[in-house]
Amino acid sequence: MAAKKRGMRRGLTAYGDEEFSLFLRKAFIKAMGYTDDALERPIIGITNTFSGFNACHRNVPDLIEAVKRGVMLAGGLPVEFPVITLHESFAFPTSMYLRNMMSMDTEEMIRGQPVDSTVLIGGCDKTVPALLMGAASANMPAIMLVTGPMLTGNHRGERLGACTDCRRFWARFRAGEIDQQEINEVNEKLAPTAGTCMVMGTASTMALCTEAMGMMLPGGAAIPAVMADRIRNAEATGARAVAIAKEGLTPQKIMTPRAFENALRVLLAISGSTNAIVHLAAMAGRLGIELDLEAFDRMGRETPVLVDLKPTGQHYMEDLYRVGGLTTILREIKPLLNLDALTITGRTLGEEIDAAPATIKQDVVRPFKNPIFGEGGMAVLRGNLAPGGAIVKQSAATPKLMQHEGRAVVFDTLEDLAERIDLPDLDVTADDVLVLRNAGPKGAPGMPEAGYIPIPRKLAQQGVKDMVRISDARMSGTAFGSIVLHITPESAIGGPLALVQNGDRIKLDVANRQLELLVSDAELEARRKKWRAPKSKAGDERGYRKLFLGSVQQADRGCDFEFLAPVPTTRTPT
Ligand code: FES
Repeated sequence: MAAKKRGMRRGLTAYGDEEFSLFLRKAFIKAMGYTDDALERPIIGITNTFSGFNACHRNVPDLIEAVKRGVMLAGGLPVEFPVITLHESFAFPTSMYLRNMMSMDTEEMIRGQPVDSTVLIGGCDKTVPALLMGAASANMPAIMLVTGPMLTGNHRGERLGACTDCRRFWARFRAGEIDQQEINEVNEKLAPTAGTCMVMGTASTMALCTEAMGMMLPGGAAIPAVMADRIRNAEATGARAVAIAKEGLTPQKIMTPRAFENALRVLLAISGSTNAIVHLAAMAGRLGIELDLEAFDRMGRETPVLVDLKPTGQHYMEDLYRVGGLTTILREIKPLLNLDALTITGRTLGEEIDAAPATIKQDVVRPFKNPIFGEGGMAVLRGNLAPGGAIVKQSAATPKLMQHEGRAVVFDTLEDLAERIDLPDLDVTADDVLVLRNAGPKGAPGMPEAGYIPIPRKLAQQGVKDMVRISDARMSGTAFGSIVLHITPESAIGGPLALVQNGDRIKLDVANRQLELLVSDAELEARRKKWRAPKSKAGDERGYRKLFLGSVQQADRGCDFEFLAPVPTTRTPT
């Protein structure tokens, strides 16, 4: 059998003469000043996801330098290359719309270039899942390095964090509690350093889940972006990337069903972002693994919320880092974990937990027996309004609204919501259920984070802080409220959400995992006959938009493109 091609000999450009292809490749790369000795080393790719629009990745140049140092100290040749980068506030219509494109870019660049392993540098919400989805599909050795969370800001003596406090202060501004000058002041302080949002938003959640899954060096998730430890972690990641190239340690060997279960356990224990369900489903899907929402819900009933971080708690990521990071959480939920799962170090998760420094006395991660919330942060709902499932982050909701029946106040689209939500004559009370539709994967498109429907201004001004809100959209992990998300199937493809009318009664019963539209089957059938799919919009017929609309799957399949996932072969959790 022919020896596996490595380094410069890998994936030669097709000229019909392999030796000529290698000769030509070397001729060109020598224009970069490399020697033959350097080019014979294991070649370690580094994804450069820096962009002037991505403040969460502001430290990527420093990380690349440190990764390169680690690679060279371990005898490899580091070569950085660009892939698409995404920042939450600089991606229209929403970063989720572009996540799959980033994953395809990553997959093809890993596969199409002569790298023996790749250091995936990401951080902002969609970048970590996109990089891991791409690496999983390419199935070449790869290791994740995150940019790390920001440090907290300060406003008039109060600690601030993006973007939970962005929403909190904006709500106060809308309610007239603070003036224009103060909101301008706050705007300067919410994102005070390089790095990702420092609350338990999607970036922090994905970083911790990735570490739990074993695709990152232990301890890597929580180190703040600006700390020297972050740079040392990057150097160590570079060194490990050389080793996994030699060992052939591919994502398929690490991202197993048992590793995904560990990630889901952590997601529940940290009361992480609901977005992580979608991203983990997409990542698993790339490896032929189907995330079973019912089993996830069962896991939720036995996994308590232990981490006291905003938006549901009081601390920030730098506090979690100070008390030992993910290991402190893993120790508390150890009996629930698959300790034999392999990690990127070549050791098991159990071995890594045992090898980590002892846990100190601390108040950021609660003991298993004294949780913040007795069940996992999330529940999976079913019912005639969500036959394919819906998600509610119960730990971030108002407890009394988790059993609620109210009158539907329906917004047809995001534009309709923007136009009418603040009208003084909007027919709405605090007991109503706000409904937003056509905000799902195809409907918006891209399933934006619009599920955090604002409280109508006239109610906000009366002091209403929370209402039941339901949609086929997503919600930022930094947000909170009694919000039902990811209703599947979405309304744009004829899901039952499309049939709701103003004044219908909706019943939410989280204890029994139900979301019901209290309308008779006969009436719903009559409405269904009259239902028409939304008209296509300008731009739907060409380019990436056409690919997206024709291929994107529903939330339960991670909103991945159907042609990127193999047929599911394994269900997890079991
Ligand atoms: Fe990048 Fe929050 S905007 S992590």
